[in-house]
Amino acid sequence: MSEIAAASKEQAAGVSQIAIGLSQIDQVTQQNSAYAEETAAAAEELTGQVKHLREMVSKFRVATSKQEEADPHISSGGLASDPIKWGKELMIGINKIDSQHRRLVILANDLHHALREGQASSALQPILEELADYTRTHFSYEEQLMQQSGYPDFTSHKAAHTKLIQKLEDIFQGFKANRSGIGIETFNFIKDWLTSHIMRTDKKYVSHLQSRGVV
Ligand SMILES: [Fe+2]
Repeated sequence: MSEIAAASKEQAAGVSQIAIGLSQIDQVTQQNSAYAEETAAAAEELTGQVKHLREMVSKFRVATSKQEEADPHISSGGLASDPIKWGKELMIGINKIDSQHRRLVILANDLHHALREGQASSALQPILEELADYTRTHFSYEEQLMQQSGYPDFTSHKAAHTKLIQKLEDIFQGFKANRSGIGIETFNFIKDWLTSHIMRTDKKYVSHLQSRGVV
């Protein structure tokens, strides 16, 4: 009889140990789940910080060597990896217009980098939006000067602007409505248009605007 009692006691102790063990497993499981949540939150925060850091670094692009300092593209905030280089061939000699063209080149280069890095639509959209908005602002500034000075080629120059704005609008609307994607060919189109328009069409109005004293 005492043997049965001893065995029962032992069994009860065993059951109690199993219960303790299960409770410990439960605690560890809960801890793991809490750690996983913390890790996910930390990863999300880190992603945000990396994005912020990239934005900050892009604002502090500086020349790192004498050769880069002498390069107008680098000294004006460009990156060595930018596909459109800012330089004499794109400068028309009217400071305000040159700085507007420079900004368009920066935006086009930003679009290129975002495409090459395979950034999501959410990252491409603000670049495209700014590019379209700033193009409109810049064109209306040029058109105002051309009109004010009685530039003889005003009508055809303005027509070229209107055509590009329409094209950019089509690209942007198609992209926003998910009808069409944005690829490197979109960048190539913008690059070709911008560089040839500045070098061929814009350069033609310089002497006229200067002679009429509007710039
Ligand atoms: Fe123009």
